[in-house]
Amino acid sequence: MNDADKVPPQRPTMTWANALRDLVARFAAAKLDTPDTDARLLLAHCLGVERLQLIQTPDARLTPDQVTTLETAARRRLTREPVSRIIGQRWFYGRPFVVTPATLDPRPDSETLIEAVLAQVRTAGLQSAPIRLLDIGTGTGCLLLTLLAELPQATGVGTDISAAALNVARQNSQNLGISAARVDWRQGDRCAPAEGLFNVILSNPPYIPRSEIENLDADVRFFDPIGALDGGLDGLDFYRDLVVGVAKHIDTSESYVIFEIGHDQASEVVDLLRATPWGQSAQVQIHRDLGGSPRCVAGVPRQPTPDSAFSE
Ligand SMILES: C[S@@+](CC[C@H](N)C(=O)[O-])C[C@H]1O[C@@H](n2cnc3c(N)ncnc32)[C@H](O)[C@@H]1O
Repeated sequence: MNDADKVPPQRPTMTWANALRDLVARFAAAKLDTPDTDARLLLAHCLGVERLQLIQTPDARLTPDQVTTLETAARRRLTREPVSRIIGQRWFYGRPFVVTPATLDPRPDSETLIEAVLAQVRTAGLQSAPIRLLDIGTGTGCLLLTLLAELPQATGVGTDISAAALNVARQNSQNLGISAARVDWRQGDRCAPAEGLFNVILSNPPYIPRSEIENLDADVRFFDPIGALDGGLDGLDFYRDLVVGVAKHIDTSESYVIFEIGHDQASEVVDLLRATPWGQSAQVQIHRDLGGSPRCVAGVPRQPTPDSAFSE
């Protein structure tokens, strides 16, 4: 064997425990909010294991390829790219959702809307009924698909202006095992693709005032699609349009309408609801998130009638 045939000795790679320690230290030094969680998620993703395995086999060693993959992921995180975007997945209400550059990264605060809808459906005694849901601006589909998973007899329509976002919603629907017969994805502007009446109409529309977008944290400003953020000059453009657009899909005796809002938009959105005929006949509710901020405004039907359009 001549010298050219000799395989150069490989430097031993670090253990999983050392890799984790190193990553946490780099993320903490860069003042990331959650260095430990971020490091565990990225390391487990790059190794292709569950996070629990990091604790169970701390002395396992990374392969040279895993070292390279981890370093690439770490550098992306250090530019403030969210972990969910690096690994392509975000958990929402206990289920995993694929996220891509075409979709908003689902936020824990949006679980407030899920809780409010489920509470309303239970109050109305409709949790086992074949109710119809409409989600305007569905993105990953996290809101509609979570509700369809929680309400097994319900069906839904999810709309979005973005064909790429709808493809992600479709993929999430398949991954979560929601039958294609239960959900209809439609591309189009706001309420335009919807047809007929719905028991529940929900939307988490773009609601950031345009001038505030440049002041958002880097992980939002540079990584969420602008079309998912920009709510016009004062952030209220979509609500102005939606309160009018949803009217023909509402049965005032039964339909529940709920919008996610920015923390300081409750009174304006309540006023917009109350200025519509359907909003005047509804009871308006404000739901707060776990941090205590107003997060959703809902219009609740006042008096369900026994022989209404949505009775079983
Ligand atoms: C704030 S994101 C919400 C996404 C998802 N529902 C969630 O809660 O994570 C708003 C969504 O509205 C969509 N959108 C923006 N403009 C729209 C329009 N004119 N008509 C329909 N959807 C629109 C965006 O593509 C984006 O997916």
